[in-house]
Amino acid sequence: MVKISPSLLASDFGNLRSEIKNLEKAGAEWLHFDVMDGVFVPNITFGPALIKSVRQDTNLVFDVHLMIEKPEKKLEWFAKAGADIITVHYEACDNIKQTLQQIRALGCKAGVSIKPMTSPQVLETLLEYIDVILVMAVEPGFGGQKFMEDQIYKIEQLKKMISSYQIEIEVDGGINAQTAGLCINAGANVLVAGTAIFKGGSYQENIANLRKGGTQCNI
Ligand code: DX5
Ligand code: ZN
Repeated sequence: MVKISPSLLASDFGNLRSEIKNLEKAGAEWLHFDVMDGVFVPNITFGPALIKSVRQDTNLVFDVHLMIEKPEKKLEWFAKAGADIITVHYEACDNIKQTLQQIRALGCKAGVSIKPMTSPQVLETLLEYIDVILVMAVEPGFGGQKFMEDQIYKIEQLKKMISSYQIEIEVDGGINAQTAGLCINAGANVLVAGTAIFKGGSYQENIANLRKGGTQCNI
């Protein structure tokens, strides 16, 4: 079963509480929080205070994507704010194994993300410390970018690599009903989508279309 993790980056921040309620009603399983520090990526978004402020509003899984340098120093803040999954960037960590272990020690699922230019092979010796692998299909930093189709081979490679582990493969960036199908066929089971969900129309239909995109391609 494919899970949908709407990226709140594309939501109306002024109405965050009702946006979250509507996403819950529309059938989302996870909620994707894009935390950006203006250093690891050019953009700046929000921190743990915002995440904490909506934790009481929903039971959806809080999927926190940290696009920040040296995330190991801030993990506790995000765990305390109510994150269920904390995903750090492989490229941003001094000691990735230790960072993943720290996340689990805080009671959260440990996620690691790789940028489009990073090879999946770098994760090969870390699999026992990983719960979620987040494959970036765009350069991190901004919503609304075009899906990089050459990232599909990475999903296929990772799917083979994790065959004896309980690891979720999540894809982020440029996901729409068409690219969703490519990702699911390649082995992804969680899809992050901002623009494709919030661009207009009903959230329920948009989310259903992402799942259907996968179904059509599986026929
Ligand atoms: C990009 C973020 C994504 C982004 C996805 O750095 O990690 O989560 O918001 O947005 P869309 O779906 O518009 O590409
Ligand atoms: Zn993200």
